[in-house]
Amino acid sequence: MLCYVMLCYVMLCYVMLCYVILYYIVMWYIKLRSFIFLSMCMCVTPHSSFTCRCTFTCSASAFSPQCISSLLVFFLDQMFTLQPSHSLPTLPFSIQFTYEVAPVFVLLEYVTLKKMREIIGWSDGRGDGIFSPGGAISNMYAMLLARFKMFPEVKEKGMSSVPRLAAFTSEHSHFSIKKGAAALGIGTESVICIKADESGKLIPADLERRILEAKQKGFVPFFVSATAGTTVYGAFDPLIAISDICKKYNVWMHVDGAWGGSLLMSRRHRWKLDGVERANSVTWNPHKMMSVPLQCSALLVREEGLMQNCNQMHACYLFQQDKHYDLSYDTGDKALQCGRHVDIFKLWLMWRAKGTIGFEAQIDKCLELSEYLYNKIKDREGYEMVFDGKPQHTNVCFWYLPPGIRYMEDKEERKKHLHKVAPVIKARMMEYGTTMVSYQPQGDKVNFFRMVISNPAATFEDIDFLIEEIERLGQDL
Ligand SMILES: Cc1ncc(COP(=O)(O)O)c(C=O)c1O
Repeated sequence: MLCYVMLCYVMLCYVMLCYVILYYIVMWYIKLRSFIFLSMCMCVTPHSSFTCRCTFTCSASAFSPQCISSLLVFFLDQMFTLQPSHSLPTLPFSIQFTYEVAPVFVLLEYVTLKKMREIIGWSDGRGDGIFSPGGAISNMYAMLLARFKMFPEVKEKGMSSVPRLAAFTSEHSHFSIKKGAAALGIGTESVICIKADESGKLIPADLERRILEAKQKGFVPFFVSATAGTTVYGAFDPLIAISDICKKYNVWMHVDGAWGGSLLMSRRHRWKLDGVERANSVTWNPHKMMSVPLQCSALLVREEGLMQNCNQMHACYLFQQDKHYDLSYDTGDKALQCGRHVDIFKLWLMWRAKGTIGFEAQIDKCLELSEYLYNKIKDREGYEMVFDGKPQHTNVCFWYLPPGIRYMEDKEERKKHLHKVAPVIKARMMEYGTTMVSYQPQGDKVNFFRMVISNPAATFEDIDFLIEEIERLGQDL
């Protein structure tokens, strides 16, 4: 009997010991996860010129229950109970709509958007903004805001409450402007394409002429989208002249800087966006020239509060008005989405690591490489540039003329042949697996190559190789 009691006692002690050990392991695991996450936030190189006060906010509040709440086993808010998807590796890609579910990311977004607005030139970085799933969506947000600004009743009453609207953009602009018009019920026919000059820049005189024409036809001009860095030519529209026209006719001015907005980070190249500070909204894609992994696109808006008024729906299960913290940090109601992917963390971390100077260096390097390519081929036998003059962005547009068509007299015949050259060379590039360069026609111009450099790891030798490869694969055509 004594033996039996002692055995029970030992077993009980053993179970209790196991329980205590397990408890400590769990607590240690939770702390380790919080610690690693915070280290990721804080342990970035300090040579950044972007002094982000948020680092300290994050680190100071990180040990508060709010900040680590989503790391806790008993975090049972909404649908975010502890799930495998909330394990550390996926944490930076989780959801962001209220402060309580993503306090650090909300603050990172706040400081980063403010910094971007300062770079645009809006005083004290004032204004608003949001990270969206891409430049196309950012452009659509801008159109939505422009329409709401002019006709707020459209939110409740729909398109039947507004007159026929007209939007304006250059014939070289991105197709997302028309897509946005289609999605918002404005219609693609209401997007009026303005003539561009030889180098792809919108012609302001034509913009003014078309605005007046639209007014005469009974349309209400509400939105002009200028492009900073067109997709094919890399052209920068003349923003100052465009802003004068927008002001004169009381039209919202948007700058689609999805491709070229990043040049604002470069002291050498930012003049190409002179006048951007006059815009009402700006699209800027760090996931293009700044090499931030997809997706990372920002829409910056000059007027504070407009996005909130335009998009908010006050869902009371998310945006309760009696929460215990500052509700302005519940940024989710500004978005069209409900759950939102966390896109800010990658950009913020890269910015902290490289600094503005690092981004500037990488952008300048890409532009140097494209200038090198341009200088090498502009007078080289067998090449023709698509437009005269140095490219403004990293887009180098050119034809390669194989020896067989180089001296063809019949212009039409030559054009017909030339149209087929780039697709064949590209197909051969893909078959050999050595390189790949995009091509397209534009207006009356037959297929041409468009070399775009956005990888700062590329070298001058890579450019030399590209030229040799085009010639090797195309000489028999
Ligand atoms: C000028 C311009 N605007 C908008 C976009 C669309 O950007 P995203 O692919 O991020 O939607 C692009 C994409 O190439 C672009 O070049």
